[in-house]
Amino acid sequence: MTAGRSQREFFDSRADGWEAACYPQEVRERLAALIPEFRLEPGACVLDVGTGPGVLIPYLREAVGPKGRICSFDLSLPMLRQAQLKPLLPQDLVLRADAHHLPFGAGRFDVVICFAAFPHFDDPGLALAEMARVAKSGGRVVIAHLLSREELARHHGGHDAVADDMLPPADVMQLHFRRAGLQTPLIEDRPGRYLAAARRA
Ligand SMILES: C[S@@+](CC[C@H](N)C(=O)[O-])C[C@H]1O[C@@H](n2cnc3c(N)ncnc32)[C@H](O)[C@@H]1O
Repeated sequence: MTAGRSQREFFDSRADGWEAACYPQEVRERLAALIPEFRLEPGACVLDVGTGPGVLIPYLREAVGPKGRICSFDLSLPMLRQAQLKPLLPQDLVLRADAHHLPFGAGRFDVVICFAAFPHFDDPGLALAEMARVAKSGGRVVIAHLLSREELARHHGGHDAVADDMLPPADVMQLHFRRAGLQTPLIEDRPGRYLAAARRA
């Protein structure tokens, strides 16, 4: 299991108030505007990597509809207890797992989304390789934030436990994608948004 102790304690201890603190109305509006970038089709099977308290789950449900399947995982049990309170359907799954060792077979998901979690992984190349492995051939892998890379570094810098957790520079991110067997990602990095997305060959 990866993630340093202080980072784990940071997320565990903030799980209860996480959504109220991090997702006020203005941020939710920007999140709603981000969802079409995931290009989810009704009926899609989607993996929600580092779900935290499951903030994406209602948005994903709206996009994939009642026949879609949402699998959400996180390392933090207190976060997952919040995620389990989301409106889930019987085919959905909320589980504890490590992004570096996914408990899924290859080629399971139409879309793999890592929202607001990628900088916290100890080995970003390995985590991305795992995300690519579980995506279907032609499936999409997306890393997304509601802050630019620079804004995120400043934001994390305000908290000791995550101060070193940064998104890789664009050339390194592109290398991670290529090594993972993904196409070269289009990277959008601007105030209020970071998006790196590509298909699996
Ligand atoms: C900044 S929070 C974001 C959570 C959620 N995506 C959101 O936007 O509210 C990052 C999450 O990544 C999780 N995390 C960190 N390392 C992880 C790992 N190796 N595997 C799975 N989850 C991890 C943390 O427990 C935390 O819940």
